[in-house]
Amino acid sequence: MTAGNNPSVYIKGVGSYVPEKILTNQDLSKVVDTSDEWIVTRTGIKERRVCENGQECSDIAVAAGRKAIESAGLHPSDIDAIIVGTITPDMIFPSTACMVQKKLGLENIPCTDVQAACTGFLYVLDMARGMLLTNHRYNNILIIGAEKLSSIIDWSDRSTCVLFGDGAGAAVIARTPAGATYGVNDIYLGADGSNPELLNIPAGGSSLTASEATLAQGQHFLKMNGKEVFKFASRVIVQASEEILNANNLSMDDVDIIIPHQANIRIIENASKAMKVPMDKFFINLDRYGNTSAASVPVAMDEAVSSGLIQAGHHVLLVAFGAGLTWGSALVKWH
Ligand code: COA
Repeated sequence: MTAGNNPSVYIKGVGSYVPEKILTNQDLSKVVDTSDEWIVTRTGIKERRVCENGQECSDIAVAAGRKAIESAGLHPSDIDAIIVGTITPDMIFPSTACMVQKKLGLENIPCTDVQAACTGFLYVLDMARGMLLTNHRYNNILIIGAEKLSSIIDWSDRSTCVLFGDGAGAAVIARTPAGATYGVNDIYLGADGSNPELLNIPAGGSSLTASEATLAQGQHFLKMNGKEVFKFASRVIVQASEEILNANNLSMDDVDIIIPHQANIRIIENASKAMKVPMDKFFINLDRYGNTSAASVPVAMDEAVSSGLIQAGHHVLLVAFGAGLTWGSALVKWH
C-alpha cells in the first residue's frame, strides 16, 4: 500500500477498559417493553456494560489510558499531553482530560476534551497528529475515547436505551521513527451541523439551561431520530471509507481489516453490501458492548490487536460517524 501522506505519527500503544457490570437484553426487557429477539434482530446487540455507582467517566478513561501507556512501553510520566473524546464528561468543565491527568498523578501537561460524539476518537487522533508534527514539546500524546452513556440514557425510552453502553479505549501517539514506513497514513474528517436535533441532549447547555421543566420533560436525556440517523450512518460509513481510499489511490483489497464504529450490525451489513466487502473484514464487538460512542473504535481496535487480528504490516481502516452530525476515517499501517 502506498499512501498519499507520509506516516509521520504512529499508534505506539493501545488499551481499553469496560466496566464489569453487564446489562443483557433480558435485563432490559424487564425495564421496558422490548425483547432479546427484537434487539438482536434490529441491532445485533446482545449485552452492554454499565458503570457502577460512583464509577466516573474519568475512572474508566484512566483504566484504558494506563493500559495504552503500558502497551507503549512507557510510564505515565512520559506522557506530554492528554486529549479525551467524550460526550459524557465527568462535569461540563473542567475537562475530563484534566481529571485523567490528576488520576494519573501527572502535572503541568496540557489536557483538553474534544466533543465529536461517536467520531471523537478520529478527531482526537488527528489533533494529536497535528500537535506532534508542529510542536517539539510533545513526544507521546495520550488520546482516549471514553463514555459513561448510561448517565445520559432515558431508561424508560426503549428506542434508545437498548443501543448504548459504557467503555473506554486509549492510544499513545508518537512520531514515527525516521525511515519507518508504518504509522497513520491519512485521516479524513467531516461534519454537518445543519440538523443538530437528529441526535442530541436538548437541555443542560447554555441554550436551554437546566430547570425543573427541562427535568420534568426529560430533556437532559439523549434524544435520537433513529430512522434518519440510520440512513445517514449507512450512507456516510461508505462515503468516509471510499473518500480516504480514493484519496490515497487504494482499494478495499489493500485493506486487511476495517474497524468500524459499533452502532448497529445492520449499518455495517449495509456498508459491506454497498462496498462489496465481506463481513469478515469488519471487526465486530457491538454484540457485547453496544454503541459506546467515542470509545467504540479504540475499544474495537485494542481487541483486534490483542486477539491477533491486527498484526505488524497490516493496513487498518478506521471509520466512524455520530452526532453533530460528524464522520471520519483513518488509514493506519500497523507496526
Ligand atoms: N423493542 C421493541 N420495539 C421497539 C424498540 C425496542 N427496543 N424500539 C423501537 N421499537 C418499535 C418502535 O416503537 C416501532 O413500533 P411501531 O411500528 O409500533 O411504531 C417499531 O419498533 C419499529 O421502529 P423503527 O424505529 O422503525 O425500528 P428500526 O428498524 O428503524 O430500528 C433503531 C430502530 C433505533 C434500532 C434504528 O433506527 C437504528 O439503529 N438507528 C440508528 C441508531 C444509531 O446507530 N445511533 C447512533 C449513531 S452514532
